[in-house]
Amino acid sequence: MSRLVELVSVLVFLSQTIAHVTMWHPSAYGYDALNPNQEDLVNPLYNLTFDQWWFHGNISNPPADGEMLILPAGGTLNGELGCNKALTSYGDPNNPLRKVPYACDTIGPLHTTDTYGSSNPTDVKGCALSIAYKSDVYSITTEDFVVISVIYQCPWEKNITFHIPPDLPPCPPGGCHCAWHWVHSQLSGGEQIYFNGYKCNVTDTTNTVPLPPGKTANKCDYPTDTSNCTVGPRFPHYWLQKEQNNNFQDYYDPPFYNNEYGFMDGAQTDLYNTSDVKPNSGGGGSTPPVMSNDTMSSSTSASQATHTGGMSPGGGGGTSSMTSVSPGTTGGSNDIATGNITSGSGGQGGNGGNGGGSKEKGAKTCKRRNVISTSFRV
Ligand SMILES: *[C@@H]1O[C@H](CO)[C@@H](O)[C@H](O)[C@H]1NC(C)=O
Ligand SMILES: *[C@@H]1O[C@H](CO)[C@@H](O)[C@H](O)[C@H]1NC(C)=O
Ligand SMILES: *[C@@H]1O[C@H](CO)[C@@H](O)[C@H](O)[C@H]1NC(C)=O
Ligand SMILES: *[C@@H]1O[C@H](CO)[C@@H](O)[C@H](O)[C@H]1NC(C)=O
Ligand SMILES: *[C@@H]1O[C@H](CO)[C@@H](O)[C@H](O)[C@H]1NC(C)=O
Ligand SMILES: *[C@@H]1O[C@H](CO)[C@@H](O)[C@H](O)[C@H]1NC(C)=O
Ligand SMILES: *[C@@H]1O[C@H](CO)[C@@H](O)[C@H](O)[C@H]1NC(C)=O
Ligand SMILES: *[C@@H]1O[C@H](CO)[C@@H](O)[C@H](O)[C@H]1NC(C)=O
Repeated sequence: MSRLVELVSVLVFLSQTIAHVTMWHPSAYGYDALNPNQEDLVNPLYNLTFDQWWFHGNISNPPADGEMLILPAGGTLNGELGCNKALTSYGDPNNPLRKVPYACDTIGPLHTTDTYGSSNPTDVKGCALSIAYKSDVYSITTEDFVVISVIYQCPWEKNITFHIPPDLPPCPPGGCHCAWHWVHSQLSGGEQIYFNGYKCNVTDTTNTVPLPPGKTANKCDYPTDTSNCTVGPRFPHYWLQKEQNNNFQDYYDPPFYNNEYGFMDGAQTDLYNTSDVKPNSGGGGSTPPVMSNDTMSSSTSASQATHTGGMSPGGGGGTSSMTSVSPGTTGGSNDIATGNITSGSGGQGGNGGNGGGSKEKGAKTCKRRNVISTSFRV
């Protein structure tokens, strides 16, 4: 007769690590369904080759079949931000980090001068959701992604809601690709971009006219002075990398996903305010738009994920043992101070990108907690 005693202990320790934020979902490229404490997808991107930053270096590591973000045209996509998967509903249900209402359990990885837990953060610069109307991930170029939704107060709270433009057309037969983007304040940590790719699909469509081509998002002051704003679909900011940048702002003048680059808070409502292209409203949802050649490899058994109208918790619940996360330090980042970081609780600042000795301007080392649950069979 065997007796199973499960002891769950929570070990809290401080470690120096490169750990920041991403939007966790099983449809992400590089998602590891077996690791409830996955962290690597949050690593910032700085001074990297195209292969290293594009799809976070994980283009050959697609999500499980059928996993997709579902974007209902005119509806919302609910996402979960976390500096570790453990904070989200995709982590272990018993992990106390699940109760944290913010994207991280400390302020450092959020890269803001705001005080942790503030109800009115003022140095949070916004994150974005973009879409590329191509199902073959290898055929996507930097000019295929256009930003469709922005949240000015992001990252801050863990649960986020992206409002989806009502005039999005349907995806090609194999679905679309989406990406999550963030560029943080220059006042808190070394500069970098965040870019994670996902499979996605648009539902509830009424318009069938393809999106007009995108353009680089210009610096401006929406809506006060829109004279320099880019109108129509705007590309995400590709910045500070070794290759394929589309933004060449100075290191201390980062491009943001907010009014400072012509983005509206919420759904981008000017996607068709360009040239003569206008959306129609006929069609009903199922007619694919006339598109340039999209080489979808499989016609999939279209076992669409079980998420509708948002994201549902994926696997990862109920496992009786968890592996510990080691505080991976990729490529020897090196923080050097440039000051002007107000100290918040529990560690502050940023750190270098991955992939090779990036130098970092800004602040003390980025210390954060890793909380690890360990189960023992006795
Ligand atoms: C995914 O990206 C992370 C962070 O860049 C990297 O550590 C990991 O090795 C990548 N995974 C794959 C399968 O490429
Ligand atoms: C955040 O979203 C998750 C998953 O949808 C949900 O279970 C949880 O209650 C939400 N938390 C808050 C604070 O709204
Ligand atoms: C995308 O959604 C549309 C509309 O619901 C559906 O007809 C299509 O099969 C979906 N595509 C995939 C790849 O799931
Ligand atoms: C207009 O946008 C460009 C590109 O972002 C930028 O370099 C320039 O400084 C902007 N001009 C003004 C007046 O903001
Ligand atoms: C886009 O055009 C529509 C009408 O064509 C107008 O109502 C809307 O205000 C425009 N949006 C922007 C941001 O220019
Ligand atoms: C798509 O590819 C087919 C076969 O390669 C070619 O005949 C067709 O002209 C292409 N269409 C477009 C719009 O590029
Ligand atoms: C940093 O703070 C000092 C003193 O308050 C100020 O003179 C300087 O302009 C600030 N630098 C930046 C980059 O904000
Ligand atoms: C970018 O990376 C290279 C190594 O690939 C390194 O030599 C260089 O110093 C880095 N540049 C910056 C500005 O960090």
